[in-house]
Amino acid sequence: MGNKNISMAVIRRLPKYYRYLADLLSRDVQRISSKELSEIIGFTASQIRQDLNNFGGFGQQGYGYNVEALHKEIGKILGLDRKYRAILIGAGNLGQALTNYTGFRNAGFETIAVFDANPKMIGLKIRDFEIMDSDHLEDFVRENNVDIAIVCIPKNGAQGVADKLVGAGIKGIWNFAPIDLEVPSNIIVENVNLTESLFTLSYLMKENEGN
Ligand code: NAI
Repeated sequence: MGNKNISMAVIRRLPKYYRYLADLLSRDVQRISSKELSEIIGFTASQIRQDLNNFGGFGQQGYGYNVEALHKEIGKILGLDRKYRAILIGAGNLGQALTNYTGFRNAGFETIAVFDANPKMIGLKIRDFEIMDSDHLEDFVRENNVDIAIVCIPKNGAQGVADKLVGAGIKGIWNFAPIDLEVPSNIIVENVNLTESLFTLSYLMKENEGN
């Protein structure tokens, strides 16, 4: 199924559908109406119908959605029907927290190595990972079929590291450094910024004060 012309706004909602559908599956729910889905997800029923119509015949009048089929299809659209090999660069506060979290692996994203530039960090262990010298980053990416780099270093070094990763053949960067990385158009960068999320929280709290 081609999904090239699905809007980014829809794509951004898909992980949420996927997560709620997984939860329904784990509770043995086999089908669900757009109205029921709306009640648990918080999008309107018409939004849900419109979103899911993008992917063809899952909803049926009077039946609702087949939870398992929809979950599987959204997983495929999100590229979750395969595994990803990731490395993490920057084993500081954030890098350690992400390395210690096992949920990404369960979702199909396996960290296979952790790198740092600080000689005092190299050789220390986080879970099963011995922190590796980032001088070996490019060789490692070349030799180990790495799909994704998780960048957790200060913003000053981030573009340089991104350039090395791109040169070594990385396909995707999960970037936590507060900088817009410049990469060729065939490399995907997904930025994560918790501070921006906090700003959304403060905005919504401010709006709510009047009520
Ligand atoms: P930290 O100082 O604890 O850790 C940074 C680590 O990166 C250090 O171990 C350092 O030796 C290593 N490093 C520095 N340059 C390197 C390079 N060129 N190659 C390899 N390793 C290198 O910092 P912390 O608190 O873990 O933050 C890391 C980054 O994540 C910062 O850019 C920070 O702004 C960002 N951050 C982003 C968040 C987000 O929501 N996007 C949340 C928290 C932090």
